[in-house]
Amino acid sequence: MTKIENRLFSGVQPTGDLHLGNYLGAIRRFAPMQDKFECIFCVVDMHAITVWQEPEALRQKTREVAAAYIATGVDPERSIIFNQSQVMQHAELAWVFNCVARIGWMNRMTQFKDKAGKNRENASLGLYAYPSLMAADILVYRATHVPVGDDQKQHLELTRDIAQKFNNDFNSQIVAEGFEDGQFFPQTEPLISGPAMRIMSLRDGSKKMSKSDPSEMSCIALMDDADKIAQKFKKAKTDPEPLPSEADGLDGRPEARNLVEIYAALSGMTPQDVLQEFGGQGFGAFKPALAELAVSKLSPISSEISRMLADPAELDGILRKGGERAAAHAEETMKHVREIVGFVS
Ligand code: TRP
Repeated sequence: MTKIENRLFSGVQPTGDLHLGNYLGAIRRFAPMQDKFECIFCVVDMHAITVWQEPEALRQKTREVAAAYIATGVDPERSIIFNQSQVMQHAELAWVFNCVARIGWMNRMTQFKDKAGKNRENASLGLYAYPSLMAADILVYRATHVPVGDDQKQHLELTRDIAQKFNNDFNSQIVAEGFEDGQFFPQTEPLISGPAMRIMSLRDGSKKMSKSDPSEMSCIALMDDADKIAQKFKKAKTDPEPLPSEADGLDGRPEARNLVEIYAALSGMTPQDVLQEFGGQGFGAFKPALAELAVSKLSPISSEISRMLADPAELDGILRKGGERAAAHAEETMKHVREIVGFVS
């Protein structure tokens, strides 16, 4: 079997509203990847149910994330777009990985500690095993690259550990299967393109923008209309000083920095360029310019998403077809895995 060189996998959870942070930090980077990689973009609905989801909302959000991929330029013919639960091989490989990974490895995962909170005994078993399913998402396609944000780095490292332990534990069977170098699963590389983009809350420049923030005003949803976007930027927390004309002048001003960085990311300028243009001006002038820019970039995307959601049959067809294509790749891996592990088939 030929070695896979350039296969990229990424997943987004269909929970809560997509927001500016998801868009700038993750989703808008996906379409350009299609020029360099064979891309598989997944909506990870099985990860979503590790915490309670209203079933109808889960279905709706799954479609919304898929529509966002397409609206930002992912081509469902060229790339594969699907929802995780349609390809049962993810769950099958996750079970094998549950038996490869050690409890001690899981106990080190910081996301579990954060999400489980104080009452860890009451968290679902799925939430605990979440990283094992994520490793299966990636390795069932033997993906070579995964774009990751800071918060997922530890899970990707665990994926590499699981791949290595599997390759070691089953070395002789892997070689017998025809993988002479013993590298059945690859050491997947994280892709951190450009400076790590962290969009912060509009109410508190030290907190990440999040859909679960209690203050709705802290977060620009992708589906917000023009008035809402303008209102949220207008109310965004700032300080009384005008904008500096050099990037250094943003030190110690987290809210000002965040707004300048959002402007820079949306316009494709550097923060220095933005300050060249707006340095010396107050937020009374900057905020409306920022709102106008955000609306001009986001509204074509949100109207395309709305159009697709109005006819879910077409979207569901795309996900089903994507699922079939994904399953063909995944089954190729699983045929070997079953043989390697010693299952009779
Ligand atoms: N855990 C990721 C997140 O919360 C989502 C995810 C699931 C994922 N499986 C993946 C991301 C595989 C990249 C690759 O953002």
